[in-house]
Amino acid sequence: MKLPSYFSPHIYDFIENLSEERETPFLVLDLNVIESRYHELRQGFNNTHIYYAVKANPADEIIERLVRLGSNFDLASVNELNKVLKFKVEPSRLAYGNTIKKKQDIQYFYDHGVRLFVTDAEADLRNIATYAPHSKVFFRLSIDCAETADWPLSKKFGCDSDALIGLAILAKELGLTPYGISFHVGSQQRDIQSWQHAITETKAIFDQLRDKYDIHLSMLNLGGGLPAHYRQKTETFNKYTSEINEYLKVFDEYELEQIMIEPGRSLVGDAGILISEIILISHRPKLGCKRWIYTDVGVFNGLIETIGESVEYPVLSNRTGEVGSVIIAGPTCDSMDIMYQDKDYALPTSLEIGDHLYWVSTGAYTTSYSSIEFNGFSPLNYYVLK
Ligand SMILES: Cc1ncc(COP(=O)(O)O)c(C=O)c1O
Repeated sequence: MKLPSYFSPHIYDFIENLSEERETPFLVLDLNVIESRYHELRQGFNNTHIYYAVKANPADEIIERLVRLGSNFDLASVNELNKVLKFKVEPSRLAYGNTIKKKQDIQYFYDHGVRLFVTDAEADLRNIATYAPHSKVFFRLSIDCAETADWPLSKKFGCDSDALIGLAILAKELGLTPYGISFHVGSQQRDIQSWQHAITETKAIFDQLRDKYDIHLSMLNLGGGLPAHYRQKTETFNKYTSEINEYLKVFDEYELEQIMIEPGRSLVGDAGILISEIILISHRPKLGCKRWIYTDVGVFNGLIETIGESVEYPVLSNRTGEVGSVIIAGPTCDSMDIMYQDKDYALPTSLEIGDHLYWVSTGAYTTSYSSIEFNGFSPLNYYVLK
C-alpha cells in the first residue's frame, strides 16, 4: 500500500500498530497534513481570513491545532461553539454561519460574545436584531453551480440578489451592521469559474447597495468549495488560488475590511485515512459479474458522501497482482449501504476476508456524519498522529 507522499513518514508504522491493537473501522488523522494545508491556504490567499468550517471534522485535536495556528471558525450550532470555546478562542474569531437557527441559539452565541451572523431570510434577520442587537450580519447569496460540484449545497441556502438587497436595507433599519455577502459554490467544486460567476454577482450587489442605498458593505465571504484529492481529478491548488485571486481584483476599489474563506474539505479531507476490514466476499451472479466486497465501514458509519457515488475515495489494499471489478458495500442490513456499484472500482483478486482496505482522503465529513448506532454499529472512531 502506497499513500500519498504528503503524509508524515511514520504514518505507516502508526497505522500498523493501531491496526494490531484496535478494532476497525477507524480514521487516522495526520495533523501535520492539516497544518501544511493551513499554511498553503494562507499563502495562496494572503489577504483572506480563514474560518475553518468545523462541521467538516470537529475533532478536538484539529480545533486545538487550528486555534494555535491563528485560525478563525465558522460554526453551525451551539455544540460547535462550545467545542471551540473550550480552547479559549476569542469570540471575535467566530462566526455563526448557519442560516437556520433557533432564537435561543442566537441568544447563546450573543451571550458568549459572538457578533457576526449570517442570514438569508427576513424572520431570521429579525431574530438576530432581537437576540443579538447591533451585531454584524452578512447575507448568503444563492449560487447555482450544482453540476460541477461533487457535493452541491445550492438547494437549501441563500437568497437571490433582490431579496439580499431587501435584507441589507432592513438590517440597517433594525440597528444591525450590514457587513458583507457570502456564498458557497458547492463542496468539492471542480469548476474554478464558479467563483468568478459568484464574485461578479456579489460585486454587482455591493455596487447597487453603495450607489442606490448608501449601504457600504465591507466584507466578502468566499465560503468553502476548494477540493480535497479524490479519484475525480481537479485542477491544482495553485490554479485555484491564482484564478480566484484574479477574479477578486474587481473588488480592489472597495478596500474591504476582510475577505473570509470557510474551508472544510480542503483543509482536513486529505489528512485522513480510514481503515476498514473486509467481512465478506461473495459472488452473486444474478446481480452481475462483479465481486461483492462487504466491509465493516459503510454509508452509515462514515462514508455517507458515497451516496449517489458522489465522492469517490481512493481505496487501497496491501495485496498486489491482478485486479478485478468490485462492488463495495457496508455492513448494515440496509440496501442503501452500498458505496460503489456503478463506478468502476477494481481491487486485487487475491483479497481475502479479514484483509484491510484503506480509504484515502477521508478526513472530512466522515466522523461527523457517522450515525450513533444504526444496526448497533458504533460511530466511527478516530486516532490522531501529531
Ligand atoms: C456555510 C459553510 N461554509 C463552509 C463550508 C465548508 O465547505 P467545504 O467543505 O466545501 O470547504 C460549508 C459546508 O457545508 C458550509 O455550509
